[in-house]
Amino acid sequence: MSSSREYKALKGMQDVLPPNSYLWKKTEETAEEIFTAYGYRPIRPPIAETTDLFTRSIGENTDIVEKEMYTFNDKAGRSVTLRPEGTASVVRSYVEHHLYTLPSPQKYYYSGPMFRYERPQSGRLRQFYQIGAEVFGAAYPWMDAEMLSMLRHFLERLHLSDLSIEVNSIGCKQCRPAYKTALLDFFSDKRVQLCVDCKRRYTVNPLRILDCKVAGCTAVRKEAPRVTDHHCCDCESHFERFQATLRNFGITYNVNPEMVRGLDYYTRTIFEITSKDLGAQNAVVAGGRYDDLVKEFGGPDTPAIGFAAGMERIVELLNRSGASALPSPDAFISLLGEQACRKGILIADDLRTKGFWVELGDPEASLKSQMRRADKVSARYVFVIGDKEIDSGNVQWKKLSDASQGLISLSGIYDFLADKAG
Ligand code: HAM
Repeated sequence: MSSSREYKALKGMQDVLPPNSYLWKKTEETAEEIFTAYGYRPIRPPIAETTDLFTRSIGENTDIVEKEMYTFNDKAGRSVTLRPEGTASVVRSYVEHHLYTLPSPQKYYYSGPMFRYERPQSGRLRQFYQIGAEVFGAAYPWMDAEMLSMLRHFLERLHLSDLSIEVNSIGCKQCRPAYKTALLDFFSDKRVQLCVDCKRRYTVNPLRILDCKVAGCTAVRKEAPRVTDHHCCDCESHFERFQATLRNFGITYNVNPEMVRGLDYYTRTIFEITSKDLGAQNAVVAGGRYDDLVKEFGGPDTPAIGFAAGMERIVELLNRSGASALPSPDAFISLLGEQACRKGILIADDLRTKGFWVELGDPEASLKSQMRRADKVSARYVFVIGDKEIDSGNVQWKKLSDASQGLISLSGIYDFLADKAG
């Protein structure tokens, strides 16, 4: 016989258990409700894609592609990657299914697990969940601001406050080349001070130096040219009109000219919503425009913008604020004796089919121990059914929170619960 072995979840991957799983559910339901009101529709791409899809869109020289992808060969020898983010898959799907033939703008939202082989730490996992959304076919800056307004409503509905919105614009393919040249000029005599990765980034994509977390590189780039000083007229106007619309919505924000984001596909508007309660991994939501990606994936020239919210970080904030979404049973039915048991389980079954959460006591246990369990599971109402109740056709209800009680007919339990629920 083989010896027993205790298994543990993989490092950086976690089980989501009650009560936290209820906060997840509440977060997803809130997102669905708010996003639906803004015209977003659900989309569910697969969690694995051709590796090249991510390499091309996220960028070969990003941390995600260089170090963090869960990549493997399938049985046919094709390189496959567990999605590190959702945007690339949604864009692939948009192009593959010709969704651009539908009226613009097309708005989609999704939620699900993402995979990045990062060093696990508080707020940073290897399997984490995102709730994300993407909009296709809206070039105007009002859409960028509307997205932030929607996010503000979503986070406010969850009672999350004390969050900061940071915005920037990283230009477009018209103004980016000149900015890259300015960066190359700036870093040319400082290359020796950069980390090994950034020395390489200098040659392949100097913009990525601006996203490096190594302390030495952060210090060197302090005086680096700012992208906002190199905007073309269209980018400048887009950024100004975006900010004017934010102000019109009454949204408070900071322009962070140093923010570049860690993915290569962005153009123009980028943003992050951060919390100072989360330590180093403080971004709760992040996103931006990616006006070139649909075309790069073989679709028509289509402007696009999106975001993703980190579920674990939202739930961490909800826990800190003392939020609870743990539901409890509507009713607990204690059963005393054979006859009561036969009748009681039918009553419970009927109530359950009508949508009430009903827990049944163990008929072989004493009334005292059944009542202890009713208390432990925090049932709202308790009904004790024994021979006496079967004979009389009446049953006593008891509300556990305030010990109030009364008598109703056995056949009236549904009406009683429905009345109290309403
Ligand atoms: P991202 O900034 O890589 O953007 O991730 C978005 C959010 O996912 C982060 O702000 C954070 O809350 C959460 N997150 C990322 N990595 C981890 C991790 N290792 N552990 C826990 N949470 C994490 C994107 O993924 C883009 N696809 C967003 C986007 C959509 N841009 C346009 N459309």
